Parts: sequence; structure tokens; C-alpha cells
Amino acid sequence: MYKTIFVLALMLGGMQAALAMDIPDAQTPAAKLYAARCAACHALPHPKRLDWPAWRHMLHVMERRMQEHGMQMSDAEWRQIAAYLRRHAR
Ligand code: HEC
Repeated sequence: MYKTIFVLALMLGGMQAALAMDIPDAQTPAAKLYAARCAACHALPHPKRLDWPAWRHMLHVMERRMQEHGMQMSDAEWRQIAAYLRRHAR
């Protein structure tokens, strides 16, 4: 039983590490903020998934989704995530 939990914990830890390392500049504050805020409801989308106009649109949709769930991000956080996505967009 304990062994199973231990193995599960290892797997989960590994998955999170893999997710975090899979994005560009993963060790920068902007990438960490992106990973922390944008994987709460779904898997973290890779920045190359969309081009910048599509990201800009998507960020507005996501702002609404977060408000619906009582989540808040400051303007500075939105700006940092937007700049990160713009830099690494398709
Ligand atoms: C409150 C939950 C929630 C959070 C937090 C959230 N999203 Fe979403 N996201 C959704 C939902 C729900 C959808 C499904 C589409 C819809 O409802 O419009 C979605 C869909 C998406 C899609 C399209 C899915 C696809 O497969 O192409 C992208 C891209 C996306 N989100 C990016 C983001 C980004 C970037 C952030 C961080 C700023 C973020 N999401 C944070 C709820 C969330």
C-alpha cells in the first residue's frame, strides 16, 4: 500500500516536472507564472500552439473563465503572461 502511494507520488512529481520543462525558458519567472496560472483547469498549453493574435483573443476568453471561477490575476501578471506568450507564439 505505502509502496503504491510512493510510486504514484513519484509519477505525479515526474509529470509536473515534465510539464514545466516542456515550455520555452522554463526557468524564467514569466514561464513559471504561466505554468502556475494556466494549468489550473486544463493541461498547460504549449506557447507554440497558437500565433499571437489567437493568443491575445484566448487570453480574453480565459480572463472570463477565471472570473467565472472567482480567480483573479493582477494586470501585471496578465502583462507578464501575455509578453511571454507573444515572445514564444507560433
Ligand atoms: C478557470 C479555469 C481556467 C483557467 C485558470 C485557464 N483556463 Fe484555459 N480554458 C478553460 C476552459 C473551460 C476552456 C475550454 C474553452 C472555453 O471554455 O472557452 C479553456 C481552453 C483554453 C484553450 C484552448 C484549448 C485548446 O486545446 O486549444 C487555451 C489555449 C487556453 N485555455 C489557454 C489558457 C491560458 C493561457 C490560461 C492562463 C492565462 C488559461 N487557459 C487558464 C478554463 C481555464
